[in-house]
This record gives sequence, C-alpha cells and structure tokens, in this order.
Amino acid sequence: MTSQELAARLTSIGQSSVLRFWQELDEAGQRRLIEQITALDLDQIPGLVAKYVTGKYTPPIPSRFDPATPLPHDPQTPEQRKLYEDARKRGRELVRNGQVAALMVAGGQGTRLGHDGPKGEYPVTPIRKKPLFQVFAEQLLGHSRHYGRTIPWYIMTSEANDAATRAFFKKHDYFGYDPSAIFFFQQGMMPAFSFDGKMLLAEKDSLALSPGGNGDCYRSMVRSGALEDMKKRGIKHLSFFFVDNPLVHCIDEQFLGLHDLTGSDISSKAIPKASPEERVGVFAMADGKLQVVEYSDMPRELAAQTNPDGSLRYSSASIGIHAFRVDLVERIGSGEFKLPWHRAEKKVPCIDEQGSRVKPQQPNAVKLEMFMFDVLPLSHNPLVYMTQRGEEFSPVKNAEGNDSPATSRRDQIRRAARWLEACGVEIPRTGEGEVDAVIEISSKFAANLEQLMARKHELPRIQRGATVYIE
Ligand code: UTP
Repeated sequence: MTSQELAARLTSIGQSSVLRFWQELDEAGQRRLIEQITALDLDQIPGLVAKYVTGKYTPPIPSRFDPATPLPHDPQTPEQRKLYEDARKRGRELVRNGQVAALMVAGGQGTRLGHDGPKGEYPVTPIRKKPLFQVFAEQLLGHSRHYGRTIPWYIMTSEANDAATRAFFKKHDYFGYDPSAIFFFQQGMMPAFSFDGKMLLAEKDSLALSPGGNGDCYRSMVRSGALEDMKKRGIKHLSFFFVDNPLVHCIDEQFLGLHDLTGSDISSKAIPKASPEERVGVFAMADGKLQVVEYSDMPRELAAQTNPDGSLRYSSASIGIHAFRVDLVERIGSGEFKLPWHRAEKKVPCIDEQGSRVKPQQPNAVKLEMFMFDVLPLSHNPLVYMTQRGEEFSPVKNAEGNDSPATSRRDQIRRAARWLEACGVEIPRTGEGEVDAVIEISSKFAANLEQLMARKHELPRIQRGATVYIE
C-alpha cells in the first residue's frame, strides 16, 4: 500500500490522525507505521469504535442466573463410576492415537507480575527454579514418553513477545522437546482508542497496540495456519491452558475422555470458589446457556448465596483450563460465530496531538479484548468438571500476595508432598501441618500421581528440613 492509499483508507474510516507526524518520520518509521496499520482489520474499526468505544457497549448481564452443575471430582453413582472409567480409557486412546494436542496461550503482557519479558520465562519451581515454559515442556515430554509419541504443542504468542519466546525456547534447546512438534503462532494486536474513538500513538511512528485477549486464539489459529497443521496431523481435541499455572495437568486423560464421550464442544475445569469475595469468574447458566459470569458482573447477593450445607451456590470458579474440539476452532475462527469484545478503560502512555509524551494518571483510553470462554454459550453440550484447587491451580499472576511466585512455590511443594504420601512416603510436617522440607518432582520423572505410583520403589526418604529434587 502506498502512503497515499494508506492516507485515503484511514480517512475513510475516520482514523487519519495516526498519520499526523508522517512528514517527520524517516523511512524506517514510515515503514513501521504502515506495517502496523495494515496488520489491523481496518474494515472492522468504525463498527468497533461506534459500538464499544464511543457507544460504551458492554454485554448485557442476564437478569437471571442459575448455578452450573459440574461433574463432580469423584464419581458419585455407579453410572458415573463407569463413565469416569470409560473416560480414562478413551482419553488414553485419544492421546495414544495422536488425536490430542496441547494449546498454551502466552500472548498476554503479564503486567501485574511485572517481569520484563514473556511470562513463561519466569522461574517458578521450588528447587531448580525452572521457568514456566520448561515446566510445561517437561510435563508434555513425560506424557509423550509414556505414550511413545510426541504430543504436538501449539503456543500462542503476540507481537509483543513472539521473538523473545522463540529465542528463549531455542536458547534452551526447546527443553528437550522435538522442535518440529512445536508450533508458535501469533495472535492479533489491537489499538488502544481515545475516548472519542481515535487510535492512539505510542510513538510518532508506532500505534499504541496490545494483544487482543486470549479469545483471539480461535481466529489466530485459523489465520496462522495452526488449524491447517492440526488437521494435517489428525488432531481432534486441544488441551488448553494458560502460561501462568505450573500446577496445570497439560494432559488429563480422564478429562479429555469425559469431554469426548459426552460429545462436548468445549469442556472446562472448575474449582470450588474460596469465598464470595474471591475475584474469579463462575460458571453459571443463563437462558439455558452455560457461561462464565465475571466477578465484577456478579450481583453481590447472588455471590453470597449458600446451599443448605453452607457451601456457595455459585461455587464453580473458572481457571482457564479447557478441552475443545478442533472443529469448534474452525467454526469460530472462520467467522461463523462472532465472539464479543470487552471494553476496559485503561491508562495508556501515548503521544498527544502536539507530539509530547503523555503518562496518564487517570484512564485515558479504551482497550478491547476477547475472552476465550465467551465461546461457551455458542457451543454444543459444554461440560464443566470440578477439580481440586491444590491439585491443579496456583497461578503466578501478581508479584506479591495472592497468586504470586511465593504462593505457587508453596502449593507446588504441598502437591508434591501429597503425591508422595499417596505413594507411601512419609512426609515431615510442622506443628501446623505444613510440609517441613522443600520438594520438587521433575515431570520427566512423573507427570502425575499415576505415573509416580508406577515408580514407587524409586522414591527417596524425605528427611525433616531436607531439599529433595526427584528426577
Ligand atoms: P491474564 O488475563 O492473566 O493476563 O492472562 P496477562 O496478560 O497474563 O497478565 P496481566 O493481566 O497483564 O497481569 C491469562 C492467560 O491468557 C493469556 C496470557 O498469556 C495468560 O496465559 N493471554 C492474555 C493471551 O494469550 N493473550 C492476551 O491478549 C491476553
């Protein structure tokens, strides 16, 4: 596109102001700006601005919810016992037949953690300080060895961290994973808009861009060729997880089997919500459709409602762990379904009309994001499965406090200790019941309790106060 064509195109969508400093830019700067602008879906900008930015649209909150009814962690009836058993068999078969791939979304900016670089580089394990990327790589390696075939691994990055992510994997020799089984793909970037609907500039030659939310994964899989690659490899289901939860079971045969056997388009793991105030979305039914109701949208009285046994009525918290069908990706990614955008007012550093840098103290911009769980109401037969917090969820979101490296490290040690106890190993504990040792189990040794059980005879004794790495 020539600069004249670009200017005409931007004028036609009411965004010519991004070329305000064009004459001042050198050739590289002009090229950069053209590249950024042409990578956007320009046709959709006027509609998005009218609806979400100036129109301030937010999806309506249903007037009535009902709690979702997840499948329980442990089967409760003979029928369920049979279903779970069949599911484990089915899940194993799916992985063994190469019909399952892992999908990790890692396109976010991790602003709360404040690490300068992709979040997956962050060291998280208690002893070896393995980065998140390595934790998942070793887990997937553990499963791949177990099944005698490498599980394909799709990794979504964004322009902000793609090069750094690839370089990190390369530098670490892909943590022993077969690089031909890893498929990196980039999600789209979205411009930040001023409140009157103009795209903001971060620099004179650069838009203020940020990744468009994890819900962008569907169309990004289509656009990048990841979907094509999945189809070529005969993959039927994706095991989906966030980059920030080292406790996640990247491959859970029972969950995958339940998902497949029940004909669910997309299945979700949930954990019991800790308290009415916990800031997590919950699974709920509205108009007969499953959805995640965000913490901020949940009326307080509803959040606090309890069952006769005292448990929370809306208790299934969403934790970003799913399984979904590849053909669902095709349906959404190709535009058959459209996911809504969510608007958020944010403080976005930018260049003002005079070309001066602005570091706002108050929100000055609208950012738009898509959430992957918004596909739930559009999907067929979505399943929710209740799992245990300590077994599967302890993310690294914040630098300190809840969901921080410190709480995640503690929870990794606690889980390792529980697994060892289940294998008959005695665990030294403090008077308060906390594990009195630092323990780390390499996923290459055992990626789950079942694999650990199979190696019971190789497990060491754990001395009080010891640091024990099991590999
Ligand atoms: P979060 O919502 O926790 O966001 O992402 P974040 O970007 O990691 O962190 P903050 O909010 O800036 O502190 C949950 C998961 O979704 C991915 C993240 O990489 C993480 O795995 N994600 C988020 C994307 O892949 N793309 C996005 O645009 C946003």
